[in-house]
Amino acid sequence: MTTIEVIELRTILDSRGNPTVEADVYTASGFGRSAAPSGASTGSLEAKVRPPKEAVDFAIQNVTPALVGMDATDQEGFDEQLRDIDGTTDFSGIGANIAVALSLANAKAAASSMNMPLFRYLGGAFAKEMPLPLGNIIGGGAHAANATEIQEFLVVPGDAADAEEAVFANAAVHRHVKELLKKKGKSCGKGDEGAWAPQIDDALAFELIAEATALVADEMNVTVDMGIDVAASQMWNKEGYQYRDRVRSTEDQIAYIAELVDTFNLVYVEDPLHEDDFDAFSELNNQVGNRCLVCGDDIFVTQVERIMQGIETDAANCVLIKPNQVGTLTDTFDAVRLAHTHGLDTVMSHRSGETTDTTIAHLATAFSCVFLKCGAVGGERIAKLNELIRIEEQL
Ligand code: PGA
Ligand code: ZN
Repeated sequence: MTTIEVIELRTILDSRGNPTVEADVYTASGFGRSAAPSGASTGSLEAKVRPPKEAVDFAIQNVTPALVGMDATDQEGFDEQLRDIDGTTDFSGIGANIAVALSLANAKAAASSMNMPLFRYLGGAFAKEMPLPLGNIIGGGAHAANATEIQEFLVVPGDAADAEEAVFANAAVHRHVKELLKKKGKSCGKGDEGAWAPQIDDALAFELIAEATALVADEMNVTVDMGIDVAASQMWNKEGYQYRDRVRSTEDQIAYIAELVDTFNLVYVEDPLHEDDFDAFSELNNQVGNRCLVCGDDIFVTQVERIMQGIETDAANCVLIKPNQVGTLTDTFDAVRLAHTHGLDTVMSHRSGETTDTTIAHLATAFSCVFLKCGAVGGERIAKLNELIRIEEQL
């Protein structure tokens, strides 16, 4: 009943209006569908995508015929087959967009064949804890031109009673920030992830979010904490971190981030330093890791060799997990397991280019990630947040 009978591939629209790959996997009694997201501020070591249309045509000829007939419940076998057909280490053969769409669709087909939600199929009886939603409220960097220099100003409701209260608290912060921006006569356009992208400096962004979280604390009685994704690889010019009005040396950057952590009680700092500087990561982790999650995205790219290097150098206490950075569910699980085995936390994450696919809400729950990072508002973001509310009902 779990033998794969049919696989279909197509290109669909993503949230930036670009094409992306969607895969359907059918067994006799089950069905799974998943679509590949895409990044704008990508790590240089991420698995490689192929142009969607060409990738789909190639895969229909060369990939899916070898997967039909396999047992959908053999996820490792399925993912190994993808790697074998690809024949490279970075999925540049078939495209990581093809790989991730197929791999996740297969898991969903297996779960569906067994009449289980995906989070239960993958997490079993021990999937009990809800990840907290980590939402992007103000942003710039690679996601919006002429906006903040730090790529993402994030919030997470640390003491929300449940997923529903948590996602509404983040949305309330997002709404209050709009009102505060309007009062200041600032534009209220949005970036790729639905965060406000005003032409303001980073200091004002911190202030506005602090003000908005205070309002939400009063109204909803929920403490909403702040975090950031610096996306520092984008600022690194090989000698220092390029800001509009200055260049910060690595030492200055570490001191600056540590100061932000203390000034704004940041609970989460992602990619504070560029993707190859394990030592600088380690210095910062040493300074603030006892009170803040120091999370690696571009530096780890969801790959076990890089995470292992981070563990050995004590570079971070948290790993960002993006299935499409590595290409398969098996590789994603291995990355999570390695992190957890060594006492690091994990955060399951969307990409800036998304679809209404909700798979990461299930993965975050199944894999016991502390946060689900998927924005605060916007159709492709709320798809995942609303799924989190539904998952919690079943826990
Ligand atoms: P991306 O960025 O999805 O555009 O690569 C998100 C992030 O840096 O976390
Ligand atoms: Zn990031």
